[in-house]
Amino acid sequence: MRWPKGLTGLCYGGDYNPEQWPAELWPEDVALMRRARVTLVTVGVFAWSRLEPEPGRYDFDWLDRVLDLLHAGGIRVALATPTAAPPPWFSLRHPDALPVTADGVRLSHGSRDTYCASAPAYRAAARRIATALAQRYADHPALALWHVHNEYGTTCHCEYVAAAFRRWLRERYGGLDALNDAWTTSFWSQHYTDWEQIRTPVATRYLGNPGQLLDFRRFVSDELLGAYLEQRDLLRAATPEVPVTTNYVLGDWVPVDHARWSAEVDLVAIDHYPSESGPGAEEQTAFAADLARCWARRSPGGPAWLLMESAPNLILTPGRMHAKEPGRLLRHSLAHVARGSRGAMFFQWRASRGGAELFHSALLPHAGPESRTFREAVALGESLTRLAEVDAGTVAARVAIAWDASCRWAMQATVLPSASLDYAAEVAAAHRALWRAGYPCDLVIPGDDLSGYALLVLPALYLVSDRYADQVRGYVAGGGHLVVGYLSGIADEYGRVRPGGYPGAFRDLLGIRVEEFHPLDPAERVPLADGTTGRLWSEPVRLAGATVVTTYAGGTVAGRPAVTRHDHGAGVAWYVSTRLDDDAYRDLLRRAAERAGVAPACPAAPPGVEAVRRGDGAGRSWLFLLNHTATTQTVPAAGTDLLTGGHLDPVTLPPGGCAVLREDGAAG
Ligand code: GLA
Repeated sequence: MRWPKGLTGLCYGGDYNPEQWPAELWPEDVALMRRARVTLVTVGVFAWSRLEPEPGRYDFDWLDRVLDLLHAGGIRVALATPTAAPPPWFSLRHPDALPVTADGVRLSHGSRDTYCASAPAYRAAARRIATALAQRYADHPALALWHVHNEYGTTCHCEYVAAAFRRWLRERYGGLDALNDAWTTSFWSQHYTDWEQIRTPVATRYLGNPGQLLDFRRFVSDELLGAYLEQRDLLRAATPEVPVTTNYVLGDWVPVDHARWSAEVDLVAIDHYPSESGPGAEEQTAFAADLARCWARRSPGGPAWLLMESAPNLILTPGRMHAKEPGRLLRHSLAHVARGSRGAMFFQWRASRGGAELFHSALLPHAGPESRTFREAVALGESLTRLAEVDAGTVAARVAIAWDASCRWAMQATVLPSASLDYAAEVAAAHRALWRAGYPCDLVIPGDDLSGYALLVLPALYLVSDRYADQVRGYVAGGGHLVVGYLSGIADEYGRVRPGGYPGAFRDLLGIRVEEFHPLDPAERVPLADGTTGRLWSEPVRLAGATVVTTYAGGTVAGRPAVTRHDHGAGVAWYVSTRLDDDAYRDLLRRAAERAGVAPACPAAPPGVEAVRRGDGAGRSWLFLLNHTATTQTVPAAGTDLLTGGHLDPVTLPPGGCAVLREDGAAG
């Protein structure tokens, strides 16, 4: 396992941007970091203009001092390459390396991420600054980890990108005939007769081509990966013993297939900022952490991963920032650690006085160390040191949900029967339902081994290859339990509809046939015969071997099956043709899980108490219990609470309280 050099136990810290502060303040930073038991900080992530104030003239003196101070304080460094924010001189010198929007507007510097990742001048400058950093700091004793760039996810529509896209397409399709066929270019006279005719999906008169859009997103993911690999390889060559990573950003605008990238990072690192403040934040946190954990299995550093950035308090969201109430800092951090994160890192250490994110929270807020946030930061540091032993364990799940970046991108084309359909929201709804029912679950991508799962859920798996459909069929035939959501199996891997009736690839497996869709208005609810409701979507399902679980009791498809079940081989396949309300979805997945013989992590945990178990596979296990409710809760579980050192049986959690039990009865 490759892990930040010289670090044991859990990591704690965050982005440290000393270039924003006078040098006289740096010793105080280090002293306060020590007080908070910070172990790792990311340095230099947006410091390009300070590191290379003029082309080819480097100023490393200040960074030398910072790294020396940190080292003297026993704090290790994730040294970043600053390539997400080229200096103004760079864009003035290389206007061709500035990004172009889909509307043809060339952007200018003044923010961050304003570069074209395919522009030769940008790539060369990025390699140069990364090489200079590697040469300067290869032997620095504080260096624990290379942090390449920041949150890869930009797109551009300039001529460099168009040329790179064409090269990517030639490699994928070989010939234009195959591309024309995959993109159905016979529709609206788009037949290509020369590769040079192909553009990126720029602004056009009316709806664009969904096949082109899908391939463009796949291409951007590969292109950005190429930019990362260039830096990774030169850093690896300079310091083979120092792992290299980049921090993933999650969001529907990000054209990055993180699952596939994960084979190329030495450890998976994510940034996570829930967009909600209530219980939705807990659900989003669990979802993101489960994704990261499953991506990490593909990485040489896996199954461990790292929460690289999160917000200590106020989160920068459009409209209104929301604050973390007392206690949530620890609870949120533990929710990540419970799912395998080797620590909790934050954006950022000291709150900025100016710049675009001056009101984004920090471990050391504007108010200084005499503040609630800093006190909680100190307490978190102490808690994390007490949890070092959990590092040995990981979560074992017998339930999995399918996740596929291509599917998400295919559904982002504005050509679906309803604008309310959102792939990530569908997957999140399934995850939320299982989270509420207390089942730990994995996120699997096409091709992942399914043999360890008793239950597999495919929410809106719109696009599916023949190969994956066969794999899923084999899984059920072999005894697996499957729940398929509406809008699954519809299209092939190019995004073309599979003819013969929906849900295309899964018709036979599900024992049903659907001839048409009846999308619902966003505000519309349709009653089901079992007293629950559906929304967003409805379909007149016809049985072709399946049995009815419940039917539509209203709407345009009243009387037709809404949920079905079909035995296939040794397994069973359910179909859900509408978006069930949250409670009904939870109950349905619980039924399916019970039938599949799977139990929740802590069956007796009351609603609102999250229970996640990390086990080391050799008899030791740790049960994380997080009380997300505003009332005291009691959980019938027993063990030593690592947070307090006390033995608990049962566990009584105050409102918002947490416990991490080394479980009784476990070897150890
Ligand atoms: C991400 C970025 C940081 C900062 C925060 C703000 O984590 O990496 O630079 O912008 O978001 O939420």
